[in-house]
Amino acid sequence: MYLAVNAIINPGEEVIIPEPSFVSYGPEVVMAGGVPVYVPTYAENDFQVTGEEVRQAITEKTKAILIGYPNNPTGAVMSRERLAEIASAAAEHDLLVISDEIYDRLVYGVEHTCFASLPAMRERTILLGGFSKSYAMTGWRIGYACAPPEILAAMRKIHQYTIMSAPTPAQYAALTALDEGETYVADMRAEYDRRRQLIVSGLNELGLTTFEPRGAFYAFPSIAATGMDEHTFAEKLLEEERVAVIPGSAFGPSGAGFVRCAYATAYEKIEEALERMYRFMQRHG
Ligand SMILES: Cc1ncc(COP(=O)(O)O)c(C=O)c1O
Repeated sequence: MYLAVNAIINPGEEVIIPEPSFVSYGPEVVMAGGVPVYVPTYAENDFQVTGEEVRQAITEKTKAILIGYPNNPTGAVMSRERLAEIASAAAEHDLLVISDEIYDRLVYGVEHTCFASLPAMRERTILLGGFSKSYAMTGWRIGYACAPPEILAAMRKIHQYTIMSAPTPAQYAALTALDEGETYVADMRAEYDRRRQLIVSGLNELGLTTFEPRGAFYAFPSIAATGMDEHTFAEKLLEEERVAVIPGSAFGPSGAGFVRCAYATAYEKIEEALERMYRFMQRHG
């Protein structure tokens, strides 16, 4: 991500970022000398940014739009229709689109549309992906980018003098994942889907209204019913029941009143967490 923004941003140029979104997007734009311009997304719109909302944020300094879907932390998956709106805004204003699709394989009951596959978008898209999520290889840090050659050349320059190369053992692990991992991806997706259904129905039953996430491995419940802010909720839940969730506002101001629950852990642990949250809600709901 940093390589991508650094390769394209001149000092003071703006990058539009729908939020809530992955914590490092904004800081990486800042580190590259750019200015993040955040656009809120809402549960009522399935946390999908609209073309109109993006257009309203465009100024003469805008260089790129940075989207991440399936989304961390909301689990939202951008529909083809919404993506087409963004594509048309990008074409009209001659903008680049950085599309972080690292969760592209983890979608449930919907199809993932690759932004670069939309008409005429290949030449203005920097597609980011990685092995962490599809192959449950978090921590191995093998990612990849697909972009027009001149952008990749600029990224390689920075890569060469900051990172040099991904560690060799991690590259071999990724190769094995590619060669032998396909059936595991399908199995894991089915297992994540099972956990997703458990956590989403469990949270809703507790009175924590939860938008149905269609991708990634996060649920993003509203904690409005408790009357607490998201920081108090997360801290009390951790202290009283030893269940860890992340305050939604860590991912942007529109995450206020929500928390992020990761369901990448075992089914039984999610059951246990829901039981503990039930006790918590009995006291605080
Ligand atoms: C949306 C998103 N993009 C990128 C990453 C980075 O993944 P990695 O550094 O493991 O390749 C993460 C990891 O949490 C993520 O959630």
